[in-house]
Amino acid sequence: MSTVLAALEKPTQRPNVPHFSSGPCAKRPGWSPAALNDAVVGRSHRSKPGKAKLEEVITLSKEILGIPEGYRLGIVPASDTGAVEMALWSLLGERGVDVLGWESFGKEWVTDITKQLKLGDVRVMEAGYGELPDLTKVDTDRDVVFTWNGTTSGVRVPDGEWIPNDRKGLTICDATSAVFAMELPWSKLDVVTWSWQKVLGGEGGHGMIALSPRAVARLESYKPSWPLPKIFRMSKGGKVIEGIFVGETINTPSMLAVEDALDSLRWAKSIGGLQGLLSRSKANLDAVVEWQAKSAWCGFLAKEEKTRSNTSICLAITSPEVAALDAAGKAEFVKKMTSLLEKEKVAFDIASYRDAPPGLRVWGGATVETSDMKALLAWLDYAFAVASAK
Ligand SMILES: Cc1ncc(COP(=O)(O)O)c(C=O)c1O
Repeated sequence: MSTVLAALEKPTQRPNVPHFSSGPCAKRPGWSPAALNDAVVGRSHRSKPGKAKLEEVITLSKEILGIPEGYRLGIVPASDTGAVEMALWSLLGERGVDVLGWESFGKEWVTDITKQLKLGDVRVMEAGYGELPDLTKVDTDRDVVFTWNGTTSGVRVPDGEWIPNDRKGLTICDATSAVFAMELPWSKLDVVTWSWQKVLGGEGGHGMIALSPRAVARLESYKPSWPLPKIFRMSKGGKVIEGIFVGETINTPSMLAVEDALDSLRWAKSIGGLQGLLSRSKANLDAVVEWQAKSAWCGFLAKEEKTRSNTSICLAITSPEVAALDAAGKAEFVKKMTSLLEKEKVAFDIASYRDAPPGLRVWGGATVETSDMKALLAWLDYAFAVASAK
């Protein structure tokens, strides 16, 4: 009781930037629209300067992420969803598939595979919010489709130990809220996808797709039995379309979004590249962990520490009064908290995802300053106390 009463005092410090959304995520510190001054606007994306910008996004991304030689990386339409679906539609059907779903987005890929592609030989491996399916049961001699970080449950794959190097199938990994924030074992991943508006705080619209040499071999040796729309086509006449991987996008990108992506990549490089990004994100999670350990009302949705996300940090309200409420009551309680935080302009968009259990979701990627995260945590205590007192 005393902690709750103490928290009824409004914190004096506010986050400088109240952006803790899980996508689009906070822009990099110091961002302003002036970062887009050099955008190649009003010109063709196929002009020399336009294509050079697109190619630079690819080369800088490869460099910062340490993508192995021989992997191809392309900019594709329709954000991360576009990138995942072009992989599913282009590559699957050659052999059986294991598809993993433990939160909203993974479950979308389950739907694509079972209800849209209607593949016959599919093993669906699911788990509830807060948990992972048993990774030791995955058969990597089949194709495997999974999400590295489940953005809506805050549960991530801890590592790639469960993926053997001599696998026969392809591993297709939706890494949109993991890449630039978690170490990815590239040699174990045949397809990796992401979008610009997540970890680096870019603009939405475009997806990235990385393909291993084995994924390219599949593209060149296998033709799906279903029709492929133009925006999914990565090969022609049994050969991969190499242009896609040097900046010749399939259709027209936003050159403002491209400039912004470049700005975010240059910032990433300036703070020490991948290691700089990882350590900023780790500091954000550490701040939440330290605060949660002392909290009387809040717990992580992720059941196991090693699966806890450092980007989409999902929190459950565990106080007995709130835990006893039904889902609608819990959602209403969360709404009281998030409305107050919005009204005070200290945190926007931190209610859990619409399909996830009611709770809070705070983004801890590198573009969020740890000082802002720490300031926010005191406000969470305050919002909880106010919502409880009502
Ligand atoms: C894991 C995951 N996959 C896919 C998506 C969809 O991404 P987009 O809106 O970039 O298509 C999201 C968006 O939050 C996500 O978190």
